Amino acid sequence: MNSPATVSPEPLLSMGSPPSGEPAGPHTAVRVKELSERDRRRMLMHFLALVDSDRLLRFGTVLPDELVTRYVQKLDFARDTLFGVYNSKLELIGVGHLAFAPRDAMPLFAEATTKELVAEFGLSVSASARSMGIGTKLFERAAIHCRNGDVDTLYMHCLASNHTMIRIARKAGMQIHRSHGEADAYLKLVPANPSSVMQEAVEEQVAQFDYTLKANTRAAVKWLNSLRGVK
Ligand SMILES: CC(C)(COP(=O)(O)OP(=O)(O)OC[C@H]1O[C@@H](n2cnc3c(N)ncnc32)[C@H](O)[C@@H]1OP(=O)(O)O)[C@@H](O)C(=O)NCCC(=O)NCCS
Repeated sequence: MNSPATVSPEPLLSMGSPPSGEPAGPHTAVRVKELSERDRRRMLMHFLALVDSDRLLRFGTVLPDELVTRYVQKLDFARDTLFGVYNSKLELIGVGHLAFAPRDAMPLFAEATTKELVAEFGLSVSASARSMGIGTKLFERAAIHCRNGDVDTLYMHCLASNHTMIRIARKAGMQIHRSHGEADAYLKLVPANPSSVMQEAVEEQVAQFDYTLKANTRAAVKWLNSLRGVK
């Protein structure tokens, strides 16, 4: 297994997925939106709906509801970046958490980057929405966000038995290190350019628009149902 310090920085992921509005791919309809304080309640619902085996994969331990609640309550939207995918019922079906740590706090990466911060990403997708590309899209969004924020090292930790996550990491070109049943994956990112900045801005705008459309549609349906006396 390579140590991060010895891996060639050459094959840097370009994160060249098409910007929103380009020809359809299997993941085109997945809109990843940056989350804020107003999404906290739905985030809690998302995490509480994860079964024990998913909580083990996501948090490395089977977190009880109480600790899941505390985790969500403590999320700091000013310090970290949270991403989400909403379905048409305005349920949060995917959540990604991008946390930043000083390079020196993560000795594994101290020599792998000259940037001040490294990023760590964790994600989960609701059981009913898996294998639709949502996890991949969340990951891609996290990576481009890092690029645009001048962070060039993106790290993920998961169980070595988490084949789905390892598939996503491999597709992105991450270096994967397995030991003692766990896997550390990291990705060196190419620097931002005008196209990556534009791509993220467009994706966010489209996702915000998509969310507003879903919220308004839902409100209109509720109102019509209330007129008809339907609950
Ligand atoms: C890991 C997780 C986020 C993936 O989300 P997702 O939306 O289903 O992922 P995607 O649909 O984008 O991609 C899944 C990929 O893994 C592949 N895959 C699915 N099951 C697999 C398996 N058992 N073995 C290998 N690959 C598998 C899919 O075919 C797909 O690859 P493709 O795009 O080449 O077809 C989701 O399963 C989850 O929430 N798991 C519980 C929490 C967790 O494990 N979090 C990660 C640790 S931080």
